[in-house]
Amino acid sequence: MIILKQESEIQQMKKGGEIIGRFFEEVRELVRPGTPGEKIEEFARKFITSHGGYPSFLNYRGYPASICLSINDEVVHGIPFGKTIPEAGLVKIDIGVKYGCCHVDSAFTFVVGEIPRRAKKLVEITQKALQEGIRAARKGNRVSDISRAIERTVKPYRFGIIRKLVGHGVGFELHEDPEIPNYTSNRAYDPILKPGMTFAIEPMITLGTHKIKEMPDGWTIKTADGSWAAHFEHTVAITEEGTLVLTSPPEHHS
Ligand code: MF3
Ligand code: CO
Repeated sequence: MIILKQESEIQQMKKGGEIIGRFFEEVRELVRPGTPGEKIEEFARKFITSHGGYPSFLNYRGYPASICLSINDEVVHGIPFGKTIPEAGLVKIDIGVKYGCCHVDSAFTFVVGEIPRRAKKLVEITQKALQEGIRAARKGNRVSDISRAIERTVKPYRFGIIRKLVGHGVGFELHEDPEIPNYTSNRAYDPILKPGMTFAIEPMITLGTHKIKEMPDGWTIKTADGSWAAHFEHTVAITEEGTLVLTSPPEHHS
């Protein structure tokens, strides 16, 4: 069952989303070779709480940190402790904030140092896939339209689309109905998008195959073939007027 949010609840999600938007602007400075994961985790935790939010991931099903830090062949859910930003590679940061009623969820892939051209392409196309997914997330469309937009963007490049992990509803809980796959399938359940729905759209794309493996820490997801992966995520709200991207920095007025 998809839980609709009131206007006032969407406003609270926007506030939480602005915290995340500003976090991603400021954390860039720390995403440099040699920075310990602990430092990024500490920055995130302080940033969230000092802006009146709560880190959604902390203690979520026992998860030990406020962010996920996933590097190179780590796709998602990497634990930030005991690792260092490499000289070169793909660094994914995933963050969730609860502000007032609700959670918001967002992720970004940073390019560090000199990386192969095809890896740069992967990052560019994964970000484009998210944008196309968001564009398809509008009143009257269906969940599968989001999936199709993402798949279509990625397909010409023959990158791998992770299948076991999907986007999701978000709000009162970090993970709500519906699931939002990044590929098309013939699922019987394919809800129509309505005002008040709030989604986390999150393509996870690899340089190799779609196959993944779970690490013994119980969290970290890696590509099975060791290929690098990219991940971008935004939380959006479907409204009468259009689709709002909630996890972006506040508008600057001048
Ligand atoms: N953005 C992640 C997801 O939707 C949230 C992971 S929660 C954590 O899967 F606890 F694993 F960090
Ligand atoms: Co998510």
